[in-house]
Amino acid sequence: MGSYSYTYEFNTIDRQQTVLLGKRLGVLLRPGDVVCLEGDLGTGKTVIAEGVGEALEIGDYMTSPTYTIVNEYPRAQGDLYHFDLYRLSGEDEVYDMDFDSYFNRGAIILVEWPDRAGSLIPKDAIKVYLAKVADSTEHRKITIYSNRPLEI
Ligand SMILES: Nc1ncnc2c1ncn2[C@@H]1O[C@H](COP(=O)(O)OP(=O)(O)OP(=O)(O)O)[C@@H](O)[C@H]1O
Ligand SMILES: [Mg+2]
Repeated sequence: MGSYSYTYEFNTIDRQQTVLLGKRLGVLLRPGDVVCLEGDLGTGKTVIAEGVGEALEIGDYMTSPTYTIVNEYPRAQGDLYHFDLYRLSGEDEVYDMDFDSYFNRGAIILVEWPDRAGSLIPKDAIKVYLAKVADSTEHRKITIYSNRPLEI
């Protein structure tokens, strides 16, 4: 997992609370930030991404990049790129889609299933880990790991 200087833990009890947490995270993001969204299928990675999108004023236009692999949202203040690497087999396929060409463009980058990208994920990426609590349908524990303080 690497080591992180700051850890923040949250519990949400419905979808909307996770959207709000994403919004609170989103306002703290800066151009160049990479945010890895980790957790099993259906834990809420796309939901928290939606909240980040709200903070960045993308709002209702955000959809899951399940089939597109990446959705690109151009913004005057710096683009937002939202990846879902689930369907890629591993680092070689991620490399072949020019993953690294999205970095260093001053964009904010969200990545679902970052494990597929292996070492192509920048070392200073923020990590958001989502887990169902006791198999509850709506309760999620969400842990954010960062190397800079995030006053969420
Ligand atoms: N507390 C919660 N936070 C987020 N989503 C929740 C919560 N409670 C229930 N849900 C539901 O869980 C589902 C999460 O779906 P979502 O598409 O965000 O998962 P995902 O982690 O992106 O999955 P995938 O790996 O398939 O991309 C949604 O149907 C959402 O309504
Ligand atoms: Mg998703």
